[in-house]
Amino acid sequence: MDSTLVKDIALRFPNAVLLKASAGSGKTHALSLRFVQFLLSAAVGKNDLANILAITFTKNAAREMKTRILKWLKDCYFEDKKEAGQVLDVVSLSPRALAGRAEEVLDNILTRYTDFQVETIDSFMSCIFKASTLDLGFPPYFEIVLDNSDLIEYAFNRYLRKVRPGSKDGETFRQIADLILASQGANAYYPWDPTSLILDKLKSLYAKLAAQKGEPARENLEKRRVLQSRARGREQEIFRPHRSEFQDDPG
Ligand SMILES: Nc1ncnc2c1ncn2[C@@H]1O[C@H](COP(=O)(O)OP(=O)(O)OP(=O)(O)O)[C@@H](O)[C@H]1O
Ligand SMILES: [Mg+2]
Repeated sequence: MDSTLVKDIALRFPNAVLLKASAGSGKTHALSLRFVQFLLSAAVGKNDLANILAITFTKNAAREMKTRILKWLKDCYFEDKKEAGQVLDVVSLSPRALAGRAEEVLDNILTRYTDFQVETIDSFMSCIFKASTLDLGFPPYFEIVLDNSDLIEYAFNRYLRKVRPGSKDGETFRQIADLILASQGANAYYPWDPTSLILDKLKSLYAKLAAQKGEPARENLEKRRVLQSRARGREQEIFRPHRSEFQDDPG
């Protein structure tokens, strides 16, 4: 992964790198090191803190990158051999000069934290939008409302096109309608058209998912079935040799 990072003096701009790599292979490591290289190097022009931007997809990824960048800078300042060594591989400075430059950049980050731009794509877009509200014909003070109900309705209506008697989606739809009906208790009226009922449930499910942190816990029913049947087999293997003892026991 580090082979994607070249020494600062060999960098030519504009410079684009497309990196596709599997999970845990060092993408964040390489990206954070590149950010640190840009910040520290005298060979990278216009490398003021405010001129460097890193965009991530999730808030967690942004937090992780910021933490790693700050750690690199701290390690460079304290002249940590191993970590600063990796920076020295891509930044043309002496270890002493690197420590001094890291101190300068850290000071900059602390005094101008809003210029330290490692942020999510959503946060970046809202920044652009805020800066151009008047040009776009919106009032300068606005609030972003995350309401996906129109999108859910649209997706649900598209799904409904595939719901036909005898089709796979038709069968799933019938099962969902039965489940909802069963959960409504004995006095519920029969939903001749269950679409609005299912749509309401979907929306409230999405609202619940949006309100919780992280990925929802998922249960792998197929895996559980396999494990249960394996356990049953094992149980029989253990007890089969003793079956006669149990059967003969009069108590
Ligand atoms: N070149 C390297 N030298 C030393 N440690 C490394 C190197 N590359 C990656 N690591 C370490 O390996 C681990 C995984 O790296 P990293 O988190 O950057 O991978 P990732 O591709 O971003 O993972 P994910 O897909 O989970 O986001 C981290 O602990 C990181 O510090
Ligand atoms: Mg990562």
